[in-house]
Parts: sequence; C-alpha cells; structure tokens
Amino acid sequence: MAGDSRIVLVLLGPPGSGKGTQAKLLSDNFNLVHISTGDLLRREVAQGTDLGKKAKIIMEKGELVPDSLVNSMLKGEIKRQDSKNGFIFDGYPRNLKQAAQLDNILKQNKLDLSWVIYFKASLNVIIQRLSGRRVCEACGANYHITNMPPKVAGRCDLCNEELIQRKDDSKDSVRKRIEVYDEQTKDLVSFYEKQLKLRVVSGDLSAQEVFKEIDKILKK
Ligand code: AP5
Repeated sequence: MAGDSRIVLVLLGPPGSGKGTQAKLLSDNFNLVHISTGDLLRREVAQGTDLGKKAKIIMEKGELVPDSLVNSMLKGEIKRQDSKNGFIFDGYPRNLKQAAQLDNILKQNKLDLSWVIYFKASLNVIIQRLSGRRVCEACGANYHITNMPPKVAGRCDLCNEELIQRKDDSKDSVRKRIEVYDEQTKDLVSFYEKQLKLRVVSGDLSAQEVFKEIDKILKK
C-alpha cells in the first residue's frame, strides 16, 4: 500500500546514546510528533494505571516490558495523535517482533518508514551520560549535570520543579539495560540495514553536531 509524504523516523541506539535529546530537537524543528515508549510507560507509572503497575517493576530492573502491552499502548497513542508532518519513534521497536508490529501499524495508517537513525555510541560515553542524567518529573525535561546542566542546580529551567535521577539509571539497571540492548535490540541494526533504511550517526558527538548529521540526512 502506498504511503504519503509524511516523515517517519525510528531512533535506534543503546540507552543513553541521545535518542530522546535528538527526538526533542527534531520534533521542534520539523514539527513531527515525538512518540517515546519510555515516556509513555513512565506516564502510566505516574498515573498508577494497571499497565503502569506492571511496567514499573520491569522498568526498574532494566528489562523490556512485554510486547503485547507496549504494542497496544502505542496503537492507542498513534490514534490520539494528529500529525500533518509525521512521527518520530524513540525507543520503539526494541526487538524483531516489535519491528513487524510497527510495519503493520504504519501500513494501517498509510505511512512509510523514511529512515532508521542508528546512534552508534561507545560504552564509556553511555555510562557517563546515564550516571549524570537528571529529569524533571513534572514536565519531562531532560538535563545532564555537566553536559547540559540546568541554570540553577537541581531545578528545572522550564517549571522550576526539582530534578531527579531516573530509578533505572542506577548502576545495576544500566548494566541490565545495556545487556538487554545487546541481546534483543541490536539485531534491528542489520534488519534495517538489509532494508536500506539505516543511517548511522555518531552518538558520541555533541548534541548540536548529532542534530546537524540528522538534519543532513533528512534534507538529502
Ligand atoms: P527509554 O526511556 O526508552 O530508555 P532508553 O532506550 O534506555 O534510552 P534513554 O532514555 O535512557 O536514553 P536516550 O538514548 O534517550 O538518551 P538521552 O537523550 O536521554 O526506556 C526505559 C525503559 O522503558 C526500558 O528499559 C524498558 O523497560 C521500557 N521500554 C521502553 N520502550 C520499550 C519498548 N519498546 N518495549 C519494551 N519496553 C520498553 O540522553 C542521556 C543523557 O545524555 C541526558 O542526560 C542528556 O542530557 C545527555 N546527552 C544526550 N545527548 C548528548 C550529547 N550528544 N552530548 C552530551 N550529552 C548528551
């Protein structure tokens, strides 16, 4: 089925490689709807829904939430969103089954996958990023204590709420998340490479440099 001209991006990469940071920049610059399954799950946790209660324990351990729960949550979110220009999928798909499901969802919505942007990042960078990340639970803004510090230490620039460390940014959870990424998500790199959809950027560069690389890909 032919798709339309909207941009559809998948951001793929290990935890802490900068997917969320770039998704925000891309969404602001290209007016794309940013769908982060991690953010959606954290919202369910914060609201104390049945899904949130199930997801909380799994997320804190650094494991993947079952596909069936994530897939139906995602379908609902796409229905709710109205995007004239397109979508950014951040943190989805995470395994081959989710990739097949995304394919179905795109077909049902008459969308075509434009590019999968793969954030290639080194382990020491990932660990430095995750150990220093601070987030605002109230508005979702994302900081880093040295790379992207807030104007006032420990306070959100946007809403002045206290910044916290994500529970899954603890040493043990980070180790597990990297393990899960290597075992389940990394396969998607060759999967999308075979489809000629993969574009690689260096996640180790500064946020502005990474954005420039992606901008070039989109404007080609
Ligand atoms: P999710 O929230 O998706 O976490 P993740 O994939 O592990 O990715 P992160 O959010 O940790 O990192 P990021 O790459 O977005 O980096 P960021 O831009 O924040 O998922 C969390 C959990 O939810 C999963 O473990 C799983 O349990 C569950 N889940 C989610 N999706 C699922 C799915 N599809 N199926 C099943 N379960 C699912 O950057 C990190 C830090 O570095 C920040 O402090 C930032 O300020 C800084 N930074 C970013 N870019 C740069 C840069 N270029 N230079 C310097 N600093 C930078």
